Amino acid sequence: MKAELDFTRLPQHIAIIMDGNGRWAQKNGLERYMGHQEGAVSVRKIVEAAGEIGINYLTLYAFSTENWNRPQEEVDALMALLITTIQRETPDLMKNNVRLQAIGDLERLPQKSKDELSGCIQETSVNTGLTLILALSYSSRWEISKATREIAQAVQAGRLALADINESVVAEHLTTQQWPDPDLLIRTGGEHRISNYLLWQLAYAELYFTPVFWPDFREKDLLEAILDFQKRERRFGKTGEQVKSEK
Ligand code: IPE
Ligand code: IPE
Ligand code: MG
Repeated sequence: MKAELDFTRLPQHIAIIMDGNGRWAQKNGLERYMGHQEGAVSVRKIVEAAGEIGINYLTLYAFSTENWNRPQEEVDALMALLITTIQRETPDLMKNNVRLQAIGDLERLPQKSKDELSGCIQETSVNTGLTLILALSYSSRWEISKATREIAQAVQAGRLALADINESVVAEHLTTQQWPDPDLLIRTGGEHRISNYLLWQLAYAELYFTPVFWPDFREKDLLEAILDFQKRERRFGKTGEQVKSEK
Protein backbone atom coordinates (compact mmCIF):
# COMPACT_ATOMS: atom_id res chain seq x y z
CA MET A 1 0.00 0.00 0.00
CA LYS A 2 2.93 2.31 0.73
CA ALA A 3 3.94 2.03 -2.92
CA GLU A 4 0.64 3.67 -3.90
CA LEU A 5 1.41 6.83 -1.91
CA ASP A 6 2.21 10.02 -3.77
CA PHE A 7 5.15 11.31 -1.73
CA THR A 8 4.89 14.72 -3.38
CA ARG A 9 1.39 15.18 -1.93
CA LEU A 10 1.66 14.04 1.66
CA PRO A 11 -0.34 15.82 4.33
CA GLN A 12 2.20 17.93 6.17
CA HIS A 13 0.25 17.79 9.42
CA ILE A 14 -2.09 14.99 10.55
CA ALA A 15 -4.34 15.35 13.60
CA ILE A 16 -5.92 12.29 15.20
CA ILE A 17 -8.81 11.83 17.62
CA MET A 18 -7.79 8.52 19.18
CA ASP A 19 -11.21 7.20 20.14
CA GLY A 20 -12.59 3.76 20.97
CA ASN A 21 -10.26 2.47 23.69
CA GLY A 22 -13.10 1.74 26.11
CA ARG A 23 -15.25 -0.05 23.54
CA TRP A 24 -12.25 -2.05 22.35
CA ALA A 25 -11.73 -3.24 25.93
CA GLN A 26 -15.41 -4.03 26.37
CA LYS A 27 -15.44 -6.01 23.12
CA ASN A 28 -12.55 -8.08 24.47
CA GLY A 29 -14.07 -8.54 27.92
CA LEU A 30 -11.44 -6.30 29.56
CA GLU A 31 -11.47 -3.29 31.90
CA ARG A 32 -11.51 0.14 30.20
CA TYR A 33 -7.99 1.00 31.37
CA MET A 34 -6.65 -1.97 29.43
CA GLY A 35 -8.05 -0.34 26.31
CA HIS A 36 -6.01 2.73 27.12
CA GLN A 37 -2.92 0.55 27.64
CA GLU A 38 -3.42 -1.01 24.21
CA GLY A 39 -4.02 2.46 22.83
CA ALA A 40 -0.52 3.40 23.94
CA VAL A 41 0.82 0.59 21.73
CA SER A 42 -1.02 2.13 18.76
CA VAL A 43 0.52 5.50 19.59
CA ARG A 44 3.99 3.97 19.37
CA LYS A 45 3.25 2.24 16.04
CA ILE A 46 1.60 5.27 14.44
CA VAL A 47 4.31 7.70 15.56
CA GLU A 48 6.91 5.40 14.04
CA ALA A 49 4.94 4.93 10.82
CA ALA A 50 4.20 8.65 10.42
CA GLY A 51 7.89 9.45 10.85
CA GLU A 52 8.90 6.84 8.28
CA ILE A 53 6.36 8.08 5.74
CA GLY A 54 7.72 11.60 6.13
CA ILE A 55 4.88 13.37 7.92
CA ASN A 56 6.17 16.55 9.60
CA TYR A 57 3.58 17.08 12.34
CA LEU A 58 1.31 14.67 14.17
CA THR A 59 -1.12 16.00 16.78
CA LEU A 60 -2.77 13.37 18.97
CA TYR A 61 -5.84 14.06 21.13
CA ALA A 62 -4.87 12.16 24.27
CA PHE A 63 -7.07 13.77 26.94
CA SER A 64 -9.73 16.45 26.60
CA THR A 65 -10.89 19.10 29.04
CA GLU A 66 -14.18 17.19 29.20
CA ASN A 67 -12.35 13.93 30.00
CA TRP A 68 -11.64 15.36 33.50
CA ASN A 69 -15.32 14.54 34.16
CA ARG A 70 -14.75 10.78 33.78
CA PRO A 71 -14.77 8.57 36.90
CA GLN A 72 -11.78 9.47 39.08
CA GLU A 73 -10.23 6.02 38.79
CA GLU A 74 -10.18 6.24 35.00
CA VAL A 75 -8.64 9.73 35.14
CA ASP A 76 -6.00 8.41 37.56
CA ALA A 77 -5.27 5.44 35.32
CA LEU A 78 -4.82 7.73 32.30
CA MET A 79 -2.48 10.06 34.20
CA ALA A 80 -0.43 7.08 35.39
CA LEU A 81 -0.33 5.70 31.86
CA LEU A 82 0.98 9.02 30.60
CA ILE A 83 3.93 8.76 32.98
CA THR A 84 4.82 5.14 32.20
CA THR A 85 4.40 5.66 28.47
CA ILE A 86 6.70 8.67 28.39
CA GLN A 87 9.29 6.85 30.51
CA ARG A 88 9.17 3.80 28.26
CA GLU A 89 9.04 5.62 24.91
CA THR A 90 11.56 8.42 25.35
CA PRO A 91 14.54 6.30 24.21
CA ASP A 92 12.67 5.36 21.01
CA LEU A 93 11.65 8.96 20.39
CA MET A 94 15.35 9.82 20.58
CA LYS A 95 16.27 6.95 18.28
CA ASN A 96 13.59 7.93 15.75
CA ASN A 97 14.47 11.64 15.86
CA VAL A 98 10.98 12.58 17.13
CA ARG A 99 10.44 15.85 18.92
CA LEU A 100 7.70 15.93 21.57
CA GLN A 101 5.50 18.95 22.24
CA ALA A 102 2.27 19.38 24.22
CA ILE A 103 -0.75 21.67 24.06
CA GLY A 104 -3.55 22.14 26.56
CA ASP A 105 -4.17 23.32 30.09
CA LEU A 106 -1.12 21.45 31.36
CA GLU A 107 -1.29 23.16 34.76
CA ARG A 108 -4.17 20.85 35.60
CA LEU A 109 -2.03 17.71 35.21
CA PRO A 110 -0.66 16.06 38.36
CA GLN A 111 2.86 17.23 39.22
CA LYS A 112 4.48 13.89 38.33
CA SER A 113 2.87 13.85 34.88
CA LYS A 114 3.91 17.45 34.31
CA ASP A 115 7.51 16.69 35.29
CA GLU A 116 7.74 13.59 33.09
CA LEU A 117 6.24 15.46 30.17
CA SER A 118 8.50 18.49 30.41
CA GLY A 119 11.54 16.21 30.86
CA CYS A 120 10.73 14.43 27.61
CA ILE A 121 9.97 17.69 25.76
CA GLN A 122 13.33 19.02 26.92
CA GLU A 123 15.27 15.89 25.99
CA THR A 124 13.70 15.51 22.54
CA SER A 125 13.94 19.22 21.68
CA VAL A 126 17.19 18.55 19.78
CA ASN A 127 15.44 16.17 17.35
CA THR A 128 14.66 17.30 13.83
CA GLY A 129 12.29 14.65 12.44
CA LEU A 130 8.58 14.29 13.16
CA THR A 131 7.08 16.77 15.63
CA LEU A 132 4.68 14.87 17.87
CA ILE A 133 2.19 17.14 19.61
CA LEU A 134 0.14 15.70 22.46
CA ALA A 135 -3.14 17.45 23.21
CA LEU A 136 -3.56 16.96 26.94
CA SER A 137 -6.22 18.57 29.08
CA TYR A 138 -6.99 20.30 25.80
CA SER A 139 -10.14 21.69 24.30
CA SER A 140 -10.61 24.21 21.57
CA ARG A 141 -13.01 26.38 23.54
CA TRP A 142 -10.51 26.54 26.40
CA GLU A 143 -7.83 27.56 23.90
CA ILE A 144 -9.95 30.17 22.12
CA SER A 145 -11.09 31.68 25.45
CA LYS A 146 -7.47 31.94 26.55
CA ALA A 147 -6.46 33.57 23.26
CA THR A 148 -9.35 36.03 23.57
CA ARG A 149 -8.24 37.01 27.06
CA GLU A 150 -4.66 37.58 25.90
CA ILE A 151 -5.74 39.67 22.92
CA ALA A 152 -8.08 41.78 25.07
CA GLN A 153 -5.23 42.30 27.52
CA ALA A 154 -2.95 43.52 24.72
CA VAL A 155 -5.61 45.98 23.58
CA GLN A 156 -6.21 47.18 27.11
CA ALA A 157 -2.50 47.74 27.66
CA GLY A 158 -2.25 49.73 24.43
CA ARG A 159 0.05 47.18 22.76
CA LEU A 160 -2.48 46.31 20.06
CA ALA A 161 -5.03 48.41 18.17
CA LEU A 162 -8.54 47.04 17.93
CA ALA A 163 -8.48 47.47 14.15
CA ASP A 164 -5.37 45.29 13.94
CA ILE A 165 -7.06 42.17 15.27
CA ASN A 166 -7.18 39.79 12.32
CA GLU A 167 -6.85 36.07 11.61
CA SER A 168 -3.08 36.10 12.04
CA VAL A 169 -3.34 37.78 15.44
CA VAL A 170 -5.84 35.18 16.61
CA ALA A 171 -3.71 32.31 15.25
CA GLU A 172 -0.64 33.72 17.00
CA HIS A 173 -2.43 33.50 20.34
CA LEU A 174 -3.42 29.86 19.93
CA THR A 175 -1.31 27.12 21.49
CA THR A 176 -0.58 25.82 17.98
CA GLN A 177 0.94 29.09 16.76
CA GLN A 178 4.24 27.56 15.67
CA TRP A 179 2.79 24.83 13.44
CA PRO A 180 0.83 24.77 10.18
CA ASP A 181 -2.86 23.80 10.39
CA PRO A 182 -3.66 20.10 10.04
CA ASP A 183 -4.31 18.97 6.46
CA LEU A 184 -5.97 15.74 7.53
CA LEU A 185 -8.04 14.86 10.58
CA ILE A 186 -8.54 11.19 11.40
CA ARG A 187 -11.08 10.06 13.99
CA THR A 188 -11.10 6.41 14.97
CA GLY A 189 -13.87 4.64 16.87
CA GLY A 190 -16.78 5.37 14.54
CA GLU A 191 -18.15 8.67 15.89
CA HIS A 192 -18.63 11.49 13.41
CA ARG A 193 -17.82 14.50 15.56
CA ILE A 194 -14.98 16.84 16.47
CA SER A 195 -15.38 16.81 20.29
CA ASN A 196 -13.91 20.27 20.91
CA TYR A 197 -10.68 19.55 19.01
CA LEU A 198 -8.73 22.21 17.08
CA LEU A 199 -11.89 23.98 15.90
CA TRP A 200 -10.03 26.97 14.47
CA GLN A 201 -7.16 24.95 13.02
CA LEU A 202 -9.35 22.36 11.27
CA ALA A 203 -11.15 25.02 9.20
CA TYR A 204 -9.93 23.49 5.92
CA ALA A 205 -8.73 20.05 6.99
CA GLU A 206 -9.95 16.97 5.15
CA LEU A 207 -11.95 14.84 7.58
CA TYR A 208 -11.59 11.06 7.69
CA PHE A 209 -13.67 8.83 9.94
CA THR A 210 -13.04 5.14 10.49
CA PRO A 211 -14.93 2.62 12.63
CA VAL A 212 -11.64 0.97 13.67
CA PHE A 213 -11.11 1.31 17.43
CA TRP A 214 -7.87 3.10 18.29
CA PRO A 215 -6.15 0.04 19.85
CA ASP A 216 -6.63 -1.75 16.51
CA PHE A 217 -5.36 1.18 14.40
CA ARG A 218 -2.13 0.31 12.60
CA GLU A 219 0.12 1.57 9.81
CA LYS A 220 -2.13 0.12 7.11
CA ASP A 221 -5.07 2.10 8.49
CA LEU A 222 -2.96 5.26 8.47
CA LEU A 223 -1.93 4.59 4.87
CA GLU A 224 -5.58 4.07 3.92
CA ALA A 225 -6.45 7.45 5.40
CA ILE A 226 -3.58 9.17 3.57
CA LEU A 227 -4.52 7.50 0.27
CA ASP A 228 -8.10 8.70 0.72
CA PHE A 229 -6.77 12.20 1.42
CA GLN A 230 -4.73 12.10 -1.78
CA LYS A 231 -7.85 11.39 -3.86
CA ARG A 232 -9.53 14.58 -2.73
CA GLU A 233 -9.46 17.99 -4.37
CA ARG A 234 -8.85 20.75 -1.84
CA ARG A 235 -10.51 23.85 -3.23
CA PHE A 236 -10.28 26.36 -0.36
CA GLY A 237 -13.37 28.12 -1.64
CA LYS A 238 -12.29 28.31 -5.28
CA THR A 239 -13.84 26.46 -8.23
CA GLY A 240 -12.52 23.11 -9.42
CA GLU A 241 -11.45 24.77 -12.70
CA GLN A 242 -9.39 27.36 -10.87
CA VAL A 243 -7.68 24.72 -8.79
CA LYS A 244 -6.81 22.64 -11.87
CA SER A 245 -5.41 25.60 -13.79
CA GLU A 246 -3.17 26.48 -10.83
CA LYS A 247 -1.48 23.08 -10.87
C1 IPE B 1 -10.36 7.46 23.78
O1 IPE B 1 -11.06 6.30 24.04
C2 IPE B 1 -9.35 7.80 24.85
C3 IPE B 1 -9.72 8.94 25.68
C4 IPE B 1 -10.77 9.71 25.50
C5 IPE B 1 -8.84 9.25 26.79
P1 IPE B 1 -12.35 6.29 24.94
O2 IPE B 1 -11.95 6.03 26.36
O3 IPE B 1 -13.17 7.50 24.72
O4 IPE B 1 -13.09 5.01 24.37
P2 IPE B 1 -14.65 4.85 24.10
O5 IPE B 1 -15.07 5.98 23.23
O6 IPE B 1 -15.29 4.90 25.44
O7 IPE B 1 -14.76 3.54 23.42
C1 IPE C 1 -12.38 12.62 22.35
O1 IPE C 1 -12.91 11.39 22.72
C2 IPE C 1 -11.20 12.95 23.23
C3 IPE C 1 -10.02 12.10 23.05
C4 IPE C 1 -9.87 11.18 22.15
C5 IPE C 1 -8.94 12.36 23.96
P1 IPE C 1 -14.16 11.29 23.70
O2 IPE C 1 -14.49 9.86 23.81
O3 IPE C 1 -13.90 12.03 24.94
O4 IPE C 1 -15.27 12.09 22.86
P2 IPE C 1 -16.85 12.05 22.99
O5 IPE C 1 -17.18 12.27 24.43
O6 IPE C 1 -17.31 10.72 22.52
O7 IPE C 1 -17.32 13.15 22.09
MG1 MG D 1 -14.64 7.96 23.40
